[in-house]
Formats: sequence, structure tokens, C-alpha cells
Amino acid sequence: MFDALPKSVSIYEVSPRDGLQNEGAQVATHAKVRLVEALQDAGLKRIEVTSFVSPKWVPQMADADQVCEMLERREGVVYSALVPNATGLKRAIAANVDEVAVFLSASEKHNRKNVNKTVGQTLKAFEPVIGPAVEAGLRVRGYVSTLWGCPYEGEVPPERGLEIAEELLRAGCYQVSLGDTIGVGTPLQTRRILELFLKSIPAEKIALHLHDTRGTALANVLVGLEMGITNFDASVGGLGGCPYAPGAAGNLATEDLVYTLHGMGIETGVDLEKLWQAGQVAEAIVGRELPGKVHRAGVRSLAG
Ligand code: HMG
Ligand code: MG
Repeated sequence: MFDALPKSVSIYEVSPRDGLQNEGAQVATHAKVRLVEALQDAGLKRIEVTSFVSPKWVPQMADADQVCEMLERREGVVYSALVPNATGLKRAIAANVDEVAVFLSASEKHNRKNVNKTVGQTLKAFEPVIGPAVEAGLRVRGYVSTLWGCPYEGEVPPERGLEIAEELLRAGCYQVSLGDTIGVGTPLQTRRILELFLKSIPAEKIALHLHDTRGTALANVLVGLEMGITNFDASVGGLGGCPYAPGAAGNLATEDLVYTLHGMGIETGVDLEKLWQAGQVAEAIVGRELPGKVHRAGVRSLAG
């Protein structure tokens, strides 16, 4: 193991969206903006800042337009937002984001709970999103959720997820982010899923989006690294979950990912100390202790 590690990894930060979408109490718009700014101060170059979904479904994201308007944007940072349909794309274009992310699940039941459509209907709903977004000069990313397991259906055949991923790439997505939405994945399962996907999709078009509900996300990252994956989603402090996936905890904490990668000599472009400070901002915003390991241990106290 570890004889084929990449020199650098690209981190896609999801805390302002995947992290905050799950918060019951409404977070003030200026606090969301402060979090994004702390993340970009830490050197993160790809940040999913919000989602243009229905405010009836996810009230926490109702201020997506204002978040984008208030943001002090930094040169070289790609600002991304989740969109479920053409209405979302229209809002995203008006808000001047650089990238949009479409999303659907590999399992029908989770997809229905999340977007009120079958998988087939969801792919259809992306027709007026992906092509037009690319034509408007935006990059489009695609999420395939519940690949490691579904909160409603249990095991999910990875072949189904692969078909969806291939369809998203054909439609114009530059990358597919494979989601362990409820954090049930284990390393051999990750190897099997990636073996299947890598037969037809190049490694650079695959990202891993691993929720850390059972503490297995980093182990799955290591499998990914060994298999040539260099794109990982993460959430500062381990903030987050999915409102339509009961039991989903936060994504892999960005600090834990960066700490581990730097320790292995893999570059991320992120300043761990400043990232830790961004985690403090996230914690202050939600008003409770966040679960990230490095977030809790600190970055300086190696002797302790
Ligand atoms: P629906 O109710 O079936 O659709 O929702 P609708 O078209 O009938 O719309 C209902 C109302 O919402 C209408 O308003 C629309 O205009 C409005 P009304 O006429 O009743 O006043 N509407 C919108 N408003 C603003 N922006 C929009 C928009 N679309 C419709 N874009 C819909 C279908 C897809 C809209 C809804 O189910 C939805 O928004 N779902 C989003 C759920 C969500 O955000 N889930 C969490 C993100 S996914 C996730 O966390 C997983 C991920 O992290 C990866 C992983 O972990 O695996 C990505
Ligand atoms: Mg997620």
C-alpha cells in the first residue's frame, strides 16, 4: 500500500451548503458569508457556498441569492452552488456563481424523498440545466448520492450509480462526486465501487463525497488515493448532514483530511492553522461543538 500516492489533491469544500443545510435554527446570512470568507482565507479554492433549491424544502438555504451577493470574492476561487432544476439554474446565473452542482441518488427512495421525483424524471429535469449551464459558461458538477447505502433501501447496486454517473458526464458534467450520503462505507466496498467506476470513467473525473457518520471516511479516502482519485469533498469541523437522509452526520472534516494528506506529503494548498480557525467560525455560527478530530485536538498541540 501507499506506493502510488498523488503529489497533490484538490479539496472541494461543502460546509456552507452540505454543512449548514441541516441546521434547524436559521443561520444569519452574514454569518454564512463570514464562514465562506474564513474558508477562502485558509486557501480553499473550490467552495460550495449555498444551494438554489426550493426554500419550502430547505428553508435554511432560502437566502442563497443574498449570500452570493454579499460575498467578498477572491481571485482564483471557484464558487459553486447546488441546483436541482431550471429555476435553480436561473437563480445561480443571476447570482454569478462559477459552477453549479446537480444531484440525484442511486436509490429511488432517497431520490424521491430528496427531490420528489424518480431517478429518470430527475435526469430529465437536468436537461434544461446542464447543457444551458455549460453554454452560459458555468462548470457543472454532478453528485450521485447513496452509492454506499441508502437510508430507505439499504444496499444499492453500484452498477445503477455508474449508469447515472455516465449519463451526467455525457450531459456535460466535468466531474461526478460519488456520495456515501449516510456514511456507511468501508474500505473494501470503496475499492469495489471504484474498480467498477474506473473501468469507464477516468480518475480525474471522479470525486469522493464521504460522510463520516461511522468514522470510516478517512479510511475510504486512503483507498481512493491508492486508486488514483485526487478530488475529495470535505466540510470544515465535520459540519453537516442531509435533511432527507436520517442519520447522516457531517462530511469528512476538512481539517482531518488536510492533516492526513500533509502528513503524507500530499499538497492541498490549504493552510491548516487558518483552516482550524475557519472551523472555529463554523462552530461559533452553529453554537455547538463540532465533531472533527483535528478541530477538537487543535493543530499545535502535537506534544499533548
Ligand atoms: P417540488 O415541490 O416537487 O417541485 O420540489 P415544484 O416544482 O412543484 O416546486 C415547489 C415550489 O418550490 C414552487 O413554488 C416552485 O416555484 C418552488 P410555489 O409555486 O409552490 O410557490 N421552487 C423553487 N424555488 C426556488 N428555487 C428553486 C425552486 N424549485 C422549485 N430551485 C424540488 C422539487 C427539487 C424543487 C425540491 O424537492 C427541492 O428543492 N429539493 C432539494 C432538497 C435538498 O436540497 N436536499 C439536500 C441536498 S442533496 C444532499 O445533501 C446530498 C449531497 O450532499 C451528496 C451526498 O451527500 O450524497 C449533494
Ligand atoms: Mg452530502
